[in-house]
Amino acid sequence: MRIGVLTGGGDCPGLNAVIRAVARRAIKTYDWDVIGIKNGWQGLIKGHSEPISLYTVSGILHRGGTLLGTSRTNPVEDRDAWSKVKHHLKKYSIDALIAVGGEDTLSVALKLHQDGFPVVGVPKTIDNDIRGTDFTFGFNTAVSIVTEAIDRLHTTAESHHRIMVVEVMGRHSGWIAVHSGIAGGADAILIPEVPFEMDDLCNQLKKRHENKNFSIVVVSEGAKLKGEEHILQSEKKDAFGHVRLGGVGRVLADVIEEKTGIETRLTVLGHTQRGGSPTAYDRILATRFGVRAVDAVKKKDFGKMVALRAEKIITVKLEEAVLKNKVVDMDFYEIAELFFG
Ligand code: F6P
Repeated sequence: MRIGVLTGGGDCPGLNAVIRAVARRAIKTYDWDVIGIKNGWQGLIKGHSEPISLYTVSGILHRGGTLLGTSRTNPVEDRDAWSKVKHHLKKYSIDALIAVGGEDTLSVALKLHQDGFPVVGVPKTIDNDIRGTDFTFGFNTAVSIVTEAIDRLHTTAESHHRIMVVEVMGRHSGWIAVHSGIAGGADAILIPEVPFEMDDLCNQLKKRHENKNFSIVVVSEGAKLKGEEHILQSEKKDAFGHVRLGGVGRVLADVIEEKTGIETRLTVLGHTQRGGSPTAYDRILATRFGVRAVDAVKKKDFGKMVALRAEKIITVKLEEAVLKNKVVDMDFYEIAELFFG
């Protein structure tokens, strides 16, 4: 038996922990061969792969990024690319594939499953926006990084009596903003799920500054003004049709300063949220996902994704996971709002 493993989409702390766990379970428990596909689906188009041994995965648990490399390649639309994927799966004698990725990578995995190839998915994204699982690994690390940044911004904001706008990742959903905003004591949190009015926000900040002399505003890159579209960094689209977000923080900081008359600064945390070592929580979750993904292959539980539900690792249908994004639970937002102003 030989299994393939690939990591696709944006990188995320914990990917190496998954690869390590997949190798351990497959080699030590089942005596299977493991082959690593380089750079996500691109590796199956171009035929780039490497055998994975216990030696390959030794010492990688704490390392960020992915030793296999990643890309945002979509082989589904292009017939030639799709037939190359099938060709290389056959050429490498891969009996089953473990695809570690977000909604895009998992939607390609679903297509492969629908075409009759045995696939198991592992949900990955710092955004925590995949349906079917309580959490994705990488999210806890991103929240810790943002919380630390907010703590640091607090002291400088307070000293200079400024408003600090912090732009964080979160394309479709504001999970990172809401969790780190609660943890960091944000005075306003703007997320894609709750379009905002600029005047309301500025009035809220002005009112706060009658008693306090600084504020922290956390904004998801995907947050929108009521009735308006996303603010984009670039119109250019990736292979899955996503435009490049980022820029809402700049607009917000400028307008807040103009409308409130209070000095305002912007911090865009960007890819620092995705880099570096995973937290202990993410290492454990990624390890559990990796081990149970191999167990799902053993049980022939294909077309599924491993998922965390009420502390247990289960499997859910890939169809269910990629149907739509998981948006922020408004119970969290309601708790965050209590501390605004
Ligand atoms: O997919 C997760 C994510 O972190 C999004 O929040 C963000 O829009 C995107 O990745 C940016 O990724 P990249 O710059 O690698 O295309």
